[in-house]
Amino acid sequence: MEVKLFYGSSTGNTEKCAKKIAAELGSLLAEVKDIKKASVEDFDFVDGFILGLSTVDEGLLQEDWRRFWDEIDDVEFDGKTVAIFGLGDQVKYAKWFVDGIGIVADKVTSLGGKVVGEWPTEGYTWEASKGLRGGKFMGLVLDEDNQADQSDARIKAWCAQIRPYFS
Ligand SMILES: Cc1cc2nc3c(=O)[nH]c(=O)nc-3n(C[C@H](O)[C@H](O)[C@H](O)COP(=O)(O)O)c2cc1C
Repeated sequence: MEVKLFYGSSTGNTEKCAKKIAAELGSLLAEVKDIKKASVEDFDFVDGFILGLSTVDEGLLQEDWRRFWDEIDDVEFDGKTVAIFGLGDQVKYAKWFVDGIGIVADKVTSLGGKVVGEWPTEGYTWEASKGLRGGKFMGLVLDEDNQADQSDARIKAWCAQIRPYFS
């Protein structure tokens, strides 16, 4: 099974976490690519995806992902397994906490993809989030602004959780 990780990162936090996830998953990943440099063809013939993003500007998806949005409908997600991780700031942006996770999860689901790797809400405090479905986040939530010391453990646990879906 070929699995690729695509991420978009404005100030480098998501990129840093993408690299940690890649290190944790090791040979499971065929490629790690910045969505800024990616095209639809990069998604061709791939069986599984890990998508990383941040939420910016009060509830908007990270800008490189937004630029890719016109093309994303041409990605063959149908029947593919997709895990999402999202960066956000639960203190300063509590009303839009990791909204980007929900935006990407909805898109992938609408294109026939199967989203795996939902994440419990324990340990986070926020007011509203579009990243939630049925009481869980639709992907791993990382907060490098307020809980950077927890990211390594969260990444480790989440990678162990998603690994079986990609093997
Ligand atoms: C102008 C600005 C707006 C932001 N808006 C949100 C937001 O609406 N929701 C959220 O959860 N985080 C928000 N954040 C926090 C970022 O998602 C967070 O800092 C993240 O780690 C950035 O990751 P990146 O460097 O990979 O883009 C915002 C940050 C900035 C600077």
